Amino acid sequence: MQKSELSEHTRNILGLKLPTDPRWVNLAEISLEDILTDHAYCEQKAAITCISLIQKNPEKDLLVEELSPIVTEEWGHFRMVLSELKKRGLKLGRQRKDIYVNKLLEFQIKGGSPTERFLDQMLIMALIEARSCERFKRLSEGMDDEYMRKFYRKFMESEAGHYTLFITLAEHYIDKTVVRKRWQQWLNYEKDLMNSTEVRGDRIH
Ligand SMILES: [Fe+2]
Ligand SMILES: [Fe+2]
Repeated sequence: MQKSELSEHTRNILGLKLPTDPRWVNLAEISLEDILTDHAYCEQKAAITCISLIQKNPEKDLLVEELSPIVTEEWGHFRMVLSELKKRGLKLGRQRKDIYVNKLLEFQIKGGSPTERFLDQMLIMALIEARSCERFKRLSEGMDDEYMRKFYRKFMESEAGHYTLFITLAEHYIDKTVVRKRWQQWLNYEKDLMNSTEVRGDRIH
């Protein structure tokens, strides 16, 4: 990815309504085992969700085509985090309750038409990718260790691409005006969620 493109993506991502609390990077840095474990499961869940989206939408050719390689990529991310843990003699702990994602799920439309439900599934993924990208950006800029800064930069670049992919897929199947309007509602909801969530260094979100 070109540097200029990346900064454009990053600008879009910073269209998130609330930047991460700066204290978070320092907290994450001192809880490296926890943050790596949480990160590993985030990657695993991303892969699982992409598989599930393919299973639920086999008639959507573009989605099947675009998400298939993302499954491989997210699983590759899981393995990268796993090998980082191993290299450091750290353990992949158990999966923790994902407060951020659970709270986001509460905002998903209940009932509604299949199209409305599909839109929310795309947008929740876009949002998680966008926030993850923003968090990796913070780590890649703010950590003391140069190796770790580079490590997180790779994830930041990937997640920026995923964020745009989910928006593109939504706009391929649904009217752009509808997508943009609902996206704004999601961004506002996420801002309030971030505002009301405790800053803790053992979680990616
Ligand atoms: Fe990933
Ligand atoms: Fe991703």
